[in-house]
Amino acid sequence: MFVTLEGMEGSGKSTLLKGLNQRFQAAGRTVTLTREPGASSIGANLRAMLLSTRSTLANETELFLFLADRAQHMTEIIRPALQAGHVVLCDRFADSTLVYQGYGRGFDRRLLATLNDVAVSGLWPDTTLILDLPPEEGLRRALQRNNTSGQSDDEGRFEAETLAFHTRIREGFLELARQHPQRCVVLDATRQPEQLLDDAWAVLCSRAAFQKQD
Ligand code: TYD
Repeated sequence: MFVTLEGMEGSGKSTLLKGLNQRFQAAGRTVTLTREPGASSIGANLRAMLLSTRSTLANETELFLFLADRAQHMTEIIRPALQAGHVVLCDRFADSTLVYQGYGRGFDRRLLATLNDVAVSGLWPDTTLILDLPPEEGLRRALQRNNTSGQSDDEGRFEAETLAFHTRIREGFLELARQHPQRCVVLDATRQPEQLLDDAWAVLCSRAAFQKQD
């Protein structure tokens, strides 16, 4: 089972992933927990280039670095884990490119879909959980997190974008969910972490049961 989590900064993806990891393990499943950008052997370098406020990247460079990170991630980590029968839980994936580089930076979304197809080599998630919350609230939480962890320079390039940018990101994810209703499920990320975990777990259990019946 291949599950991705998407949503804006500060939507609580990391906390939810940890909770889902525990629940899958308690249910006897082996989990590969991973994220984009940065999980593969060359990913740490790509992540630093992509997220540091010290990077001045052309939009095209940013796009190709995210795609390169994804292609390597698929080959090195996701595909082998799925072949070994693991549940793969991935913090951000191809939808982030469609939304951030499409709705955020303005690249043509059909072009992005084609480029993503190359990067994922035909392997799309079974389920994508989209954590939705107002952009003001997400940014507030993300900036608080970065200040506490001292990440503001190293990983703050997207948090430094305007509220208008993040409003487009939210709308982009909601539009994407409307376009892919079978794969994407929108969750209310203003709920308490434990409630959000219960919501997400209920969705994954019902979909797993459905898949078994097929
Ligand atoms: P990260 O620190 O992982 O943020 P978060 O905890 O919010 O997930 O940073 C990843 C950033 O990169 C995030 O702001 C979204 C952006 N991004 C893209 O613009 N395109 C992409 O394809 C991906 C995977 C991420």
